[in-house]
Amino acid sequence: MPQTPSARLAFIGAGNHATGSLYPNLAQIPQFDLVAVCDLVEERARYAARKFGALHWFTDVGTMLHEVQPDGVCVCGPAEMHHAVSLQTLRRGLPTFMEKPPALTLAETQQLADAARDHGTWGMVAFMKRFAPANVVAKEFMASDAFGQLSSLTLIHSSGPYDDLRRMLLLNGIHMLDLARFLAGEVESLFAHGRTDGVQAASVSMRFADGAVGQFNMNSGHTWTDCFEQTYLSGSGAGILIDASQRTEVFAESSRFAKGEGLVLYGWGSRYHVSGNMAGWEAGGHYTRGYWGELSHFARAVLGQVEPTPTLADGVAAMALIEAILQSVESGQPVSVGAGQS
Ligand SMILES: NC(=O)c1ccc[n+]([C@@H]2O[C@H](COP(=O)([O-])OP(=O)(O)OC[C@H]3O[C@@H](n4cnc5c(N)ncnc54)[C@H](O)[C@@H]3O)[C@@H](O)[C@H]2O)c1
Repeated sequence: MPQTPSARLAFIGAGNHATGSLYPNLAQIPQFDLVAVCDLVEERARYAARKFGALHWFTDVGTMLHEVQPDGVCVCGPAEMHHAVSLQTLRRGLPTFMEKPPALTLAETQQLADAARDHGTWGMVAFMKRFAPANVVAKEFMASDAFGQLSSLTLIHSSGPYDDLRRMLLLNGIHMLDLARFLAGEVESLFAHGRTDGVQAASVSMRFADGAVGQFNMNSGHTWTDCFEQTYLSGSGAGILIDASQRTEVFAESSRFAKGEGLVLYGWGSRYHVSGNMAGWEAGGHYTRGYWGELSHFARAVLGQVEPTPTLADGVAAMALIEAILQSVESGQPVSVGAGQS
């Protein structure tokens, strides 16, 4: 029987997020051959290698790259480490999948994009919401005549606690800002208010390059077990509600629809569930939240079967939005967002 071609990939970092939400997908991705695991903490590297099926484990990145010679690497550690380690792997010409944020500053993220270009390789940033089926379905519906042209986008996100506005946006808001770009394209200008005493909050009004307007409201007033997220898109003939990047609901007069698979009409609106009836490993949320999709895409991009996306250019664009929001909060003025957007 012909075998699915697979890429020999190494994983750097075996902490909570990696072992809880990323490694569990690998057995379900035939193109991803996990050849080695590296973590500064030997016990974690050993554990992840044994549990997720890698033959080799290491505590030093350089040693691993030299001995294993992988086709590409995944990097998932503290935010501060993504830049240093990804710079090392990109400079060796290795395709690199890195967790968000890719770096702590826009300048460092641009340095990663430059290193990739200079060494003939590429980086992918772990903006998994682009692979969550609920968001993918919404984007597909946006391309239909029934939806028409996007007029406005509203994003709401309430996260667990942060004591600093920059860190809230860097570590968490960055996902929603990338989702805004995924769904609505480039932001041309924005105006932001911020609250930095106690609960951190930002309210950002945006104009997109194609004329649509948008609003992003984020705060850190929830706990980590009851985070809240909603996205609403208004077109010229329909609306789309995406609940927590998990479930998509379409609002439109039923006459506007070509009734399709999975689209259930009710009353004056329509509802499309993308997360019902998941079984087995999918029920843990790795598939619906987009983790399986991003890692599967990375492996297939290393094999040259698909174009890598989202790239470091998307990382740079998301970081430029964060800088623009902080600048607007600080100055009380609207800010043009040109820098870094591809
Ligand atoms: N996309 C998402 O939904 C999501 C969710 C949670 C966390 N994250 C991201 O995942 C990352 C990891 O978070 P976490 O909670 O798992 O952290 P963690 O502290 O549990 O794990 C980090 C691991 O990296 C290892 N490490 C640090 N420097 C290293 C180096 N130079 N070489 C090898 N290993 C090194 C540490 O020893 C540790 O085991 C964070 O950057 C966070 O932003 C993303």
